[in-house]
Amino acid sequence: MFIAFEGIEGAGKGTAAGRTAGWLASLGREVSLTREPGGSELGLALRALLLDMKNSGISPETELFLYLADRAQHVRQVIRPALEQGRVVLCDRFACSNLAYQGYGRGMDLDMLRRLNDWAVGGLWPDLTLVLDLEPAVGLERAKRRNRFLGLEQKEGRFEAEDLAFHTRVREGYRELSRERPDRVRLVDASGGEEDVFKRIKTLLLPMFSQGFTPCAPPGSQTTKELVDET
Ligand code: TYD
Repeated sequence: MFIAFEGIEGAGKGTAAGRTAGWLASLGREVSLTREPGGSELGLALRALLLDMKNSGISPETELFLYLADRAQHVRQVIRPALEQGRVVLCDRFACSNLAYQGYGRGMDLDMLRRLNDWAVGGLWPDLTLVLDLEPAVGLERAKRRNRFLGLEQKEGRFEAEDLAFHTRVREGYRELSRERPDRVRLVDASGGEEDVFKRIKTLLLPMFSQGFTPCAPPGSQTTKELVDET
């Protein structure tokens, strides 16, 4: 099972992916938690290039190919092997980020991006993509605060420096993607506290992992809500 977490800056993907990993592990699943850019060794070098403020002159085409290179390596070196071992793979950002940021954000042709990504991932798309949906102004403020706190404003600030209109296009892009493929791309309301967001995610995921729950209980003995509240 391959699940991607997506959303604008500061939407809380990393936190949500981490908590989901812990939860699934507590249900007895083998979980691999990874991220893009930077999920492989080569990818870490690409991440540094992609996010550093000193590379603000990078062309959109160069940016696209670096993300695709990161993804191609990540799929072959990390994601596919983990799936082949039967692990659940949770990925903080994947190809949807490319459609949202390079497509809706930078205005690149979406069909071209879909084809390039399909080639880069060798046809391996997530079973489910969760988009944490949040007002861009709120997310951006959170992301900037986090970067200031961690001293990452220069090294990881290239996208946070884009204007609000850019992040609004990215958010609308994600919403459009979820309207196009509601079976594969699900919006999660990312407003409110971390705990509220995590509960919403568990409610969505529970049917996919429910065989890990209370195997002795007769069917229908507990509602999804009760199970979510308990775990
Ligand atoms: P990251 O630190 O992972 O995101 P966040 O700050 O939200 O935790 O930064 C990755 C940045 O790269 C993010 O701004 C989105 C951008 N990105 C793309 O533009 N295209 C892509 O294909 C991917 C994977 C990321």
